[in-house]
Amino acid sequence: MRFFSQVTLFLCIAVLCTSPTTFGSRFKRGSRRQPVLFNRYICPPQCACSLNIIYCSGKQLNEIPSTFPRNGEFLHLENNYITRIHSGVFRHFPAIQRIILTKNRLISAGLKARSFEGLTALKRLDLSENKLTRFPRSLPPSLVELRLNLNNITKVKRGATRGLTNLVALSLFRNSITDAGFEPAILKNMTALSYLDLNENLLETVPQGLPESLREIRLENNGLKNVTAGIFTSQSLLHHFSLRNNQLSDQGINFNAWSNMSNLFLLDLSYNKLRTIPRGLPPSLHQLIIENNFIEEINYKTFISSLNLTQIKLSFNKIRIITPGSFTRLIHLRFLDLAFNNLLYVPRGLPTTLEALFLESNQIFSVQIDSFCPMNPERFVTSKLHTLRLDGNLIDSNDLPALAFYCLSSMEVVVT
Ligand SMILES: *[C@@H]1O[C@H](CO)[C@@H](O)[C@H](O)[C@H]1NC(C)=O
Ligand SMILES: *[C@@H]1O[C@H](CO)[C@@H](O)[C@H](O)[C@H]1NC(C)=O
Ligand SMILES: *[C@@H]1O[C@H](CO)[C@@H](O)[C@H](O)[C@H]1NC(C)=O
Ligand SMILES: *[C@@H]1O[C@H](CO)[C@@H](O)[C@H](O)[C@H]1NC(C)=O
Ligand SMILES: *[C@@H]1O[C@H](CO)[C@@H](O)[C@H](O)[C@H]1NC(C)=O
Repeated sequence: MRFFSQVTLFLCIAVLCTSPTTFGSRFKRGSRRQPVLFNRYICPPQCACSLNIIYCSGKQLNEIPSTFPRNGEFLHLENNYITRIHSGVFRHFPAIQRIILTKNRLISAGLKARSFEGLTALKRLDLSENKLTRFPRSLPPSLVELRLNLNNITKVKRGATRGLTNLVALSLFRNSITDAGFEPAILKNMTALSYLDLNENLLETVPQGLPESLREIRLENNGLKNVTAGIFTSQSLLHHFSLRNNQLSDQGINFNAWSNMSNLFLLDLSYNKLRTIPRGLPPSLHQLIIENNFIEEINYKTFISSLNLTQIKLSFNKIRIITPGSFTRLIHLRFLDLAFNNLLYVPRGLPTTLEALFLESNQIFSVQIDSFCPMNPERFVTSKLHTLRLDGNLIDSNDLPALAFYCLSSMEVVVT
């Protein structure tokens, strides 16, 4: 590092010698003041600079340095004691593309409307692990990625988000954002936003009017009670949606909640309080994860709107009743996890596309001869099933019908 910083210093001096005009403005003709030789384009004395990277991490800085090398693009300021960013401090350094300010002591009052002025190339800004209580204002419109994790932000104010039309990823996990602090459509103008992380906040309702460009939303570990209609007001690109570990009950989910999510691929509703699987899930859905809820029953209407499912995870529920044929129309289903439920029987009419079936730790006491393999000799089939768990049930292995597994090739069966 030391070697590099000296090289940079040397280069800066070379610039000083060959282009006196850079500093000429400081020596005003006829000025009585003692001329001050100030070069704002040197590596900050406390830091190390190498190529286009400026390393000021863990240097006990209380302020943002006032000099940076002219070619500095990546600015490391993490692990310091910085509380504020003075107006215009970056004004002369338009080359900076990335600033990491994690683990400082930034407060919202320390961020001014002109704190980030001049950073016209800034693409990535990380302000995580500070003491911010509001979403920062006047961030450069060039930003592509903004991280504000582990602060104590309670509000995202109207106007703060307006110009950020190039933002692709926004992460705000572990803050204190409430429904009241997150107005409907507050992010709507972020028309490039693809990734939104709101895990570990205090939201009770899934925000409405989110940008249709979003491909992944994370809302885990909030206090969500409601998923209302109107999350998307037109067709959205949403692919992954995680609502794990909230307080969602059947009454809290609107039937139209999933409308306009016509590209939804994965939905995670694990660790909630659902008694039934939500209706109206979109046909694009491939992976449905609803572990650790209180689901009691599955019938042939349950999956009627989402017949493209390939994976269903329903372990650790209270499922006792599965109407025969509930899964039959899911002709793409490959993975079904029903472990740790209250099933008495192997579900009837499972699709022959299944590759893995988990039924361990239920109360299944018998396997029928046609539980897994059809008994019609004219329709001899080879099942695709390669993993079958039946352990932790009440099955007496002496009672297993000899032909029950005839159609299963190259597989791993765990019975007891
Ligand atoms: C976060 O802010 C709220 C409200 O301003 C306050 O009650 C709470 O103590 C703060 N939490 C932390 C960890 O600073
Ligand atoms: C979105 O942009 C429009 C037009 O620039 C503006 O009127 C509106 O207030 C903005 N919305 C938000 C939430 O910033
Ligand atoms: C879905 O989008 C259409 C326009 O494409 C809109 O009219 C409708 O209100 C939206 N649905 C919901 C529930 O917001
Ligand atoms: C929100 O969810 C609760 C149950 O948790 C329900 O009683 C209430 O009607 C829901 N409100 C809306 C607006 O959907
Ligand atoms: C469901 O799967 C079928 C066949 O694979 C496909 O043609 C259709 O587009 C899928 N539907 C959606 C909404 O993705």
